[in-house]
Amino acid sequence: MPAAVSITQEILKPHLEIQGGHTLSRELKVSGAKNSALVLMTSALLSEGPLELHNVPQLTDIQGMADILASLGVHVKRSQETVWLQADDLHHAEPPYDLVNGLRASFFCIGPLLGRLGHAKVPLPGGCRIGARPVVEHIRGLKALGAMVKVEHGVVTASVPGTSRRLKGAAIVLDCPSVGATETILMAAVLAEGTSTIENAAQEPEVQDLAKMLNAMGARVIGAGGPIITIEGVERLHGCNYSVIPDRIEAGTFLIAAAITRSIVRVSPVIPEHLNAVLQKLRDCGCTLEIDKQGITLIPGDLHGVDIITQPFPGFPTDLQAPFMALLTTAKGTSVVTEKIYENRMQHVAELQRMGASIRLQGNTAVVEGVPQLSAAPVSGNDLRAAAALVLAGLAARGISQVDGLNHLDRGYDGIESKLNASGAHILRHQPSG
Ligand code: EPZ
Repeated sequence: MPAAVSITQEILKPHLEIQGGHTLSRELKVSGAKNSALVLMTSALLSEGPLELHNVPQLTDIQGMADILASLGVHVKRSQETVWLQADDLHHAEPPYDLVNGLRASFFCIGPLLGRLGHAKVPLPGGCRIGARPVVEHIRGLKALGAMVKVEHGVVTASVPGTSRRLKGAAIVLDCPSVGATETILMAAVLAEGTSTIENAAQEPEVQDLAKMLNAMGARVIGAGGPIITIEGVERLHGCNYSVIPDRIEAGTFLIAAAITRSIVRVSPVIPEHLNAVLQKLRDCGCTLEIDKQGITLIPGDLHGVDIITQPFPGFPTDLQAPFMALLTTAKGTSVVTEKIYENRMQHVAELQRMGASIRLQGNTAVVEGVPQLSAAPVSGNDLRAAAALVLAGLAARGISQVDGLNHLDRGYDGIESKLNASGAHILRHQPSG
């Protein structure tokens, strides 16, 4: 029986203290997309020219990626939301384990290192709280492009045989539309000799953003955003200036913040077609949305339950499953939420239940009965999007909630409490020293 941890010790962890019941107003600002910026940064490895990235969110993972790239010899400079990168004297092809271990996205280095240098040695990204997160599809794709790949002692070692050390274009069919695998293969194939195709490719906006930037660097990628991507290999790439797309998951989280607090709020900037499945579910559960060029205004109605099934893009995004479930706990009637992408992404359910939510969990399906009011409680955010869901629930709950797990939350949201407070929320960050 684990030693009981006293409430004070629980509350001593860094946490957000949220006074529920306040409506939000005006506007919630969206930063650049974390899941685009991270992979765009690794593309700097593909060229000796300077890469200037704008609208980069200020997140712990971004600094983590900057440190990893610097360890490979990339010149990296950051100032607020701009990052300058230049890989004109790469001296390493093996990021150090201690840097890689904390950042799954570091595995994105393997494709560009292989494409640029012909060899790479990258620690296998571990699983995480939401699932095993295998990289089998990444490795299959690199092998198809002619690389020799072996996995031993937790390290993936890849090299291109032959004197040219240049990958060869290939036709690749993914077993599952993996976002990371599509991006790894894309970055490896742009410098390969000949043409490659990726079938059953991931269609997420972040894949499209990567392809768009690679083309701005001189690559020849066609079809990104659809199920078949064609890449015509080129000899070399040059640098470019590029601005990261707005974070659709942060935008969706903020739209849900407006809905759960029954507030009229504008969320901007956002690219509406990046969120169609979510916008449809917000309408289905009783919200009205006014869409303009740069943003979306949500007007809450009398909210009722809807069913959610997470799918690859353009389906409902798994990253908004937990935040949307928080909303459904306060909507009238029954909702069925099914997680189809990850094997263990229901850790927010127990915490929402502590706040008075009525949820029955059967495997990866949650049956939610809306309740008139959540009640504040100390709760734990056990993964990035679960933590976000609990912040949203805290905004609506009666009383003062404490949400810990800020180490997760700060990986995906740039200053979430400052943005919400600027719109009328009452959130205090407690970061006990020592
Ligand atoms: C990206 O992860 C995102 N992360 C995730 O965001 C997001 O949830 C996911 O795409 C799906 O949209 C980044 O972009 C940094 P996948 P990725 O490969 O690339 C299985 C967040 O909260 N799979 O599409 O790792 C895998 O097990 C994070 O911001 C295989 O089976 O996602 C999972 O069940 C979480 N074999 C599913 O595919 C493989 O070789 C989706 O994984 C690869 C993946």
